Amino acid sequence: MTRILIVGHKGQLGRLLFSYPSEHERLGMDLPEYDITDTKATQYALREMRPQIVINTAAFTQVDAAEEHYDLAYRINAHAAGALARFCEELGASLYHISTNEVFDGQRRDQPYDEWDQPDNTHGSAYARSKLAGENAVRFYHSRARIIRISWLFAPQGNNFPAKIVAAADKYGALRVVADEFGVPTYGPDLARAIYQLIDLKAPPGIYHLVNGEKTSRYAFAQEILRVTGREHVPITPISHTEWPRPAQPPLHAVLVNRAAAALGVRLRDWQEALADWVATTGEVHPRP
Ligand SMILES: NC(=O)c1ccc[n+]([C@@H]2O[C@H](COP(=O)([O-])OP(=O)(O)OC[C@H]3O[C@@H](n4cnc5c(N)ncnc54)[C@H](OP(=O)(O)O)[C@@H]3O)[C@@H](O)[C@H]2O)c1
Repeated sequence: MTRILIVGHKGQLGRLLFSYPSEHERLGMDLPEYDITDTKATQYALREMRPQIVINTAAFTQVDAAEEHYDLAYRINAHAAGALARFCEELGASLYHISTNEVFDGQRRDQPYDEWDQPDNTHGSAYARSKLAGENAVRFYHSRARIIRISWLFAPQGNNFPAKIVAAADKYGALRVVADEFGVPTYGPDLARAIYQLIDLKAPPGIYHLVNGEKTSRYAFAQEILRVTGREHVPITPISHTEWPRPAQPPLHAVLVNRAAAALGVRLRDWQEALADWVATTGEVHPRP
């Protein structure tokens, strides 16, 4: 049995990792009891908890708000992530750090990004830049870190894209959805399983992309959400990202492919299948039975 600390264990991914059925002992660290930007307190807590593995899911994840609160986003996503990596290295603990497809600028349209591609998001959002700085800090301080990049995370609980589409469909009765932003959805329960598989396999240090299948657009994803939740009667109009102005512009083609995990035999099913599971778990069907 391994003692695993889930940092951000109350969040969308963290809670799935915290409650995932496994023999491993689980510990949690999240606000308000623990604030990872308080590095002294975090170092003390880690020394007390003595985890063998740390999975860091904690982040400033409000992408639009990060534009206005860049300092805080940077402190959490970069500085605190780096400090955590340093303390893990000191303790001899393995570190799994969760990152994002937004470390890529999304300009490459003809093929997905492999783990070995060089990230660059100099002109990306504040959130994206803080996350890339976090990856760099983690690698600087921890010689054997695993960095796990995911995209478009959705889970049975949390304010994610499927939940927002369902809520907007019910509220407005019609939708306009961006059709020129592409990515790959990642289903939290599948991701949690894959992370534990990597842990159990003692996957070598490095970068792992973990997403469910192949690319889709926000529009096609929304269409499928309406279909599988019995809301295909809701009209949906494809629009350009320029018609949906946001404080933080996401990369348009930051499509990941899972090469490193697949090479170890760790596979995630296609997002369509995972979405059907999301519907079964949340009961988000219309009309409700
Ligand atoms: N959601 C996505 O679509 C997506 C896509 C790509 C990558 N990711 C990455 O995946 C990871 C998990 O995302 P998620 O959606 O599960 O995030 P989430 O639901 O926002 O969970 C993050 C957790 O970390 C906590 N936290 C924030 N600041 C903290 C601090 N200073 N000290 C301690 N805990 C703190 C949050 O607490 P509060 O809620 O109280 O702030 C929350 O419980 C993040 O690294 C994110 O960048 C997410």
